Amino acid sequence: MTAESNSTAGSREFHRIGVVGLGTMGAGIVEVFARNGFEVVGVEPSEESLARGRGHVENSTHRAVSRGKLAAEDQQAMFDRITFTTSMEELADADLVVEAIPERLDLKREVFATLDKLCRDDTVLATNTSSLSVTEISVATARPSRVVGMHFFNPAPVLKLVEVVQTVVTEQQVVDDVAALAGRLGKVPVVIGDKAGFIANALLFGYLNHAVGMYEARYATREDIDAAMKLGCGLPMGPLQLLDLIGLDTAYEILDTMYKQGRDRLHAPAPILKQMMTAGLRGRKTGRGFYTYEAPDSPVVVPDAVAVTAPEVPARPVQRVGVVGSGTMAAGIVEVLAKAGYDVTAVARGAEKVAAVRQAVARSLEKGVLRGKLSEQERDAALSRLHGTARLDDLADCDLLVEAVVEELSIKQALFSTLDEICKPGAILATTTSSLGVIDLAAATSRPQDVVGMHFFNPAPVMKLVEVVRTVSTAEDVVASVREVCERAGKHPVECGDRAGFVVNALLFPYLNDAVKMLQARYADVDDIDNAMKVGCGYPMGPFELLDVVGLDVSLAIERTLYLEYREPGYAPAPLLEHLVTAGYLGRKTGRGFRDHAGR
Ligand SMILES: NC(=O)c1ccc[n+]([C@@H]2O[C@H](COP(=O)([O-])OP(=O)(O)OC[C@H]3O[C@@H](n4cnc5c(N)ncnc54)[C@H](O)[C@@H]3O)[C@@H](O)[C@H]2O)c1
Repeated sequence: MTAESNSTAGSREFHRIGVVGLGTMGAGIVEVFARNGFEVVGVEPSEESLARGRGHVENSTHRAVSRGKLAAEDQQAMFDRITFTTSMEELADADLVVEAIPERLDLKREVFATLDKLCRDDTVLATNTSSLSVTEISVATARPSRVVGMHFFNPAPVLKLVEVVQTVVTEQQVVDDVAALAGRLGKVPVVIGDKAGFIANALLFGYLNHAVGMYEARYATREDIDAAMKLGCGLPMGPLQLLDLIGLDTAYEILDTMYKQGRDRLHAPAPILKQMMTAGLRGRKTGRGFYTYEAPDSPVVVPDAVAVTAPEVPARPVQRVGVVGSGTMAAGIVEVLAKAGYDVTAVARGAEKVAAVRQAVARSLEKGVLRGKLSEQERDAALSRLHGTARLDDLADCDLLVEAVVEELSIKQALFSTLDEICKPGAILATTTSSLGVIDLAAATSRPQDVVGMHFFNPAPVMKLVEVVRTVSTAEDVVASVREVCERAGKHPVECGDRAGFVVNALLFPYLNDAVKMLQARYADVDDIDNAMKVGCGYPMGPFELLDVVGLDVSLAIERTLYLEYREPGYAPAPLLEHLVTAGYLGRKTGRGFRDHAGR
């Protein structure tokens, strides 16, 4: 239930707020309250850690001032409202205390027992825990009915979601008051039950852990994994960058708790997380995690020994490119390559389809001109470089062939075998497949070393990402050549191995599947889950919005492919998704999916 709707239900006035622990989250929470006019007491155990905590608040508000988001005098007034102290006694007359110390149950229970003794009877005690049981924390006090979860997101001053966690003993009035308070802070509260990870982290951390696993297995580089998710899904940060921001120790504890509660193998922390944590590589806060930063707490990434430079292999010269297919992807790729200055031969089955491809390209180029993205000369030049034909034989002198026909193994294999006969030696054969093995197509030719995957995203003229898929047989200079073509066409190539889902779909679809499972378990509804991911993690779309756009049948097919490849029980498609597909509720295209779109 999104508490926005009943934010008037809260009747209590909160004035004095305590925050215990001024690390990554606590410092941000202090800032949020103080900027909203509350009197705040921030507590750290030692003078040294207190100075660090104050430093976090100073740095963050300085940044806000320098970006014009906070007036200098407001910054001063805000600091006047904050008391920094090492004495818990100063919390005695707080109306609400938010705890934000490290994610360990024993430590949190100890702090809550102390707070219970020190604070007034009516003080509400809240924990910012991401995954620990609020119930277990609450019973360390004599007032479990006045203990809630108040889970802010990182960075707290920026992200608007607050998950308000209600245990079986929390008084309804306390929950309403805290939700209303979150609303007054300009946040969007969501009230939910006490389950490890709540909504957002329960969906986020399986995905983050999976990305760590890919990195650990050297399936792709850290830069490529991060770029793939940012450019392929429009996420504000890549998963490894995000883990560095969250803190690897915090992330480890969250995964460990989630694993212990749900026994889902996908939450078992990837071994490298523990190693990095033990080695003190805890992310931005220590200056090093997956990336190396200029200094502890700095967001500026500096080059380090891990950074890989692409091997210096000369690319094969590419000027003539053939594209086979007549669908959306084919037309988009033809446009991208013609605009980039390549001579493009577009092959479709029959004169009508050839004309349709040319028309689609012309229409899209025209739109570019109308939007001022392309000059008329550029449009004309691109069209003049496009040659349409129904004859595969016309591809004989192409340097690169991009296949974008229907996603069916036998059809693609037959095409690759024909291309193998027609194309000149040394020509590169690329496939845009999203779910088939590239090696299965390579094996249909006598030149597997020249076969590579080039996975564009839809719409190809807009989406910057191209996954360049190397098989066990692909030659180094073939990868280099395809990368060069992508770069010349203004795309961002990322390299990965030949496994189901490549980088993006392999990370995205298990997460979407988890969202469906959460819905099916009735932990939260469609709107709350979508909101949690948008407002809490800055995602452009919630999981159900995205599933409805992609199409439930398409999503189910991808999930099945992933499940078949990895045999990971957690990847088995959620029965609810299967039922919706069986019922013909395929998403926007049929007017109904997870939401009813008819009449919208
Ligand atoms: N990092 C995130 O992205 C994130 C997001 C949401 C919630 N959380 C949760 O917030 C909590 C804090 O996480 P963090 O990332 O800010 O950790 P952190 O390690 O950055 O900060 C913890 C702070 O608590 C202080 N501390 C330790 N013991 C204390 C005590 N007894 N009294 C007062 N202060 C004490 C430490 O000195 C440190 O400054 C955890 O429960 C975490 O799960 C974290």
